[in-house]
Amino acid sequence: MLARRWTRLAAAVAALVITGGTFPLSAQLGSRPADQWALTLENGRRLESLEIEAVVEQIGLRPGDLVADVGAGTGIFSVPIARAVGPGGLVFSVEVDAGFLPMIRDKAGQGGVDNIQPVLGQFGDPRLPRGDVDVIFFHDVLHHVADRAEYLQRVASYVQPGGRVVIVDYDMNVPGVPHSNQPEMLISPDQVDGWMRAVGFSLTQEVGMFDDKFFVIYTKRD
Ligand SMILES: C[S@@+](CC[C@H](N)C(=O)[O-])C[C@H]1O[C@@H](n2cnc3c(N)ncnc32)[C@H](O)[C@@H]1O
Repeated sequence: MLARRWTRLAAAVAALVITGGTFPLSAQLGSRPADQWALTLENGRRLESLEIEAVVEQIGLRPGDLVADVGAGTGIFSVPIARAVGPGGLVFSVEVDAGFLPMIRDKAGQGGVDNIQPVLGQFGDPRLPRGDVDVIFFHDVLHHVADRAEYLQRVASYVQPGGRVVIVDYDMNVPGVPHSNQPEMLISPDQVDGWMRAVGFSLTQEVGMFDDKFFVIYTKRD
């Protein structure tokens, strides 16, 4: 009992240190240690099902773009994104779990790209070093954020007018999607639409690539 209380106290202190002494605007749902999570994220069947190259192609990135891959995990999307924007572009690979940052660096090295900058974000703020980002990309991430409306408001502040936010995530309307037994981890395209419109974005593209996930692209109104 006492040990459990100490564990909880230690976790609270660690959260304060990680968030720089401020309380997070939102928290991660369904968190796991990075090294264990990496095994799931890079599981062969998962990698095959993601259609990584096709997803990145659908975004329509341009050479020189400034992109943030938020909730980058091990960086499986960051590398193809870095290739798409070329040496004149830059990718911020944001993670709230510092354990992923060396994995992202390794992945960039293995992929032969040097335009990826790992960023340690906060639960409620990706803490991007620039406010003129062209594209912010979330793959399989938004359902882990507790306060989505508030979080997306912060995200929107980093995007330049005409810039885009791309969200690929599981659709709660599809029976049997992951986390079906955890309602707090389910989101729908309609909810995303409400949150994005409220922070000044319009839906400009819906990509129908997946049966169980929605893939939507929002553009910031001028
Ligand atoms: C299911 S994994 C997806 C990783 C990667 N996007 C992919 O598809 O392989 C979700 C990732 O989002 C990260 N994450 C969760 N909440 C976050 C937040 N608020 N800001 C940044 N990263 C977050 C987690 O640490 C985890 O690495």
